Amino acid sequence: MANQQTAKYTIVVTLIMCIVASILVAGSAVLLKPHQIANKTQDFRKNVLSIAGIYNPDQPVDEQFKKIDVKLVDLETGHFSDAITDLDKFDQVASAKKAELSDKLSPEEDIAKIIRREKYAKVFLVNDANGLSKLILPVRGYGLWSTMAGFIALDKDLNTVLGFGFYDQKETPGLGGEVDNPNWRALWVGKKVYSEDGEVEIEVLKGHVDEGTPNAEYKVDGLSGATLTSNGVENLLHFWMGENGYKPFIENLKSGEA
Ligand SMILES: Cc1cc2nc3c(=O)[nH]c(=O)nc-3n(C[C@H](O)[C@H](O)[C@H](O)COP(=O)(O)O)c2cc1C
Repeated sequence: MANQQTAKYTIVVTLIMCIVASILVAGSAVLLKPHQIANKTQDFRKNVLSIAGIYNPDQPVDEQFKKIDVKLVDLETGHFSDAITDLDKFDQVASAKKAELSDKLSPEEDIAKIIRREKYAKVFLVNDANGLSKLILPVRGYGLWSTMAGFIALDKDLNTVLGFGFYDQKETPGLGGEVDNPNWRALWVGKKVYSEDGEVEIEVLKGHVDEGTPNAEYKVDGLSGATLTSNGVENLLHFWMGENGYKPFIENLKSGEA
C-alpha cells in the first residue's frame, strides 16, 4: 500500500516538473524572440555598414544606420517601388522562396545558381550634400558548398567598387572560405564593374593580377586552391550586376529616372 502511494506520488511530481519545465522553455523562447529579431537586424545593418567601409565600432550601429536610405527596388522595371511598406521586416533572401514574391529562373539565366529570383530588392543609398555618394546592393550565389550572401558597395559613379564581401557563406575554411579574408576583400576596392559599353566586365582571374595584367581594373586574384568558389563569386556578380539583377535599376539611377 505504502509502495503504491510512493509510486503515485513520484508520477505526479514528475508530471508537475515536466509541465513547469515546458512552460519555462516555451516562455523563454517567446520572451527571447524580440531580442533575437533585434540582434539579427543589428547584425544585418552592421554588415551593410562594414562592407560599404563606413562602419565605426565606437558608435551605435542604429545611429550610424540613420544616414542610410533604405529603398525597395522592383528588379523587373528597375524602378523604386512601395509594394512593401515595412522594409525593416522585409527579408529579401526569404522572399525568393515565396512563389508570389519571386520568379523561377531558367538554367541559362541562373548563372548564380539561386533557382528563383525575388521580385523586389532592398537597396541602401548613402547621400551627401552633392547627392548619391554610395550604393549598397545585396548579392548572393552558389560557391562550391553553399550559397554565399553579401553586399557590393559602389561609388557615386555606380561603377567603382567601394567594398564587397559576404555575411553568410559555408565554403571550406582556408580554401573557399578565404572569401572572408580581409586581404582578399581589399583587392576589390577600386575595381570597375562595367566596361565602357555597359557590359559586366568584372572578373575573378585564375592567378594573380598585377600592374602588367591587361584591363587590371576589372580583375581580381582568384583564391588559390579554390577555383570553384572563385568562379561562383564571378558568376554571382555577373548575375546581380547584369540584366536580370540590378543593371536596369543602375541605368535608371544614372539617368535620374529610378
Ligand atoms: C575537403 C575539400 C574541400 C574543398 N573546399 C573547396 C572550397 O571551399 N572551394 C573551392 O573552390 N574548392 C574547394 N576544394 C577544392 C576543389 O575540389 C577544387 O580542387 C578546386 O576548387 C580547384 O581549384 P584550383 O584550380 O585553384 O586548385 C576542396 C577540396 C577538398 C578535398
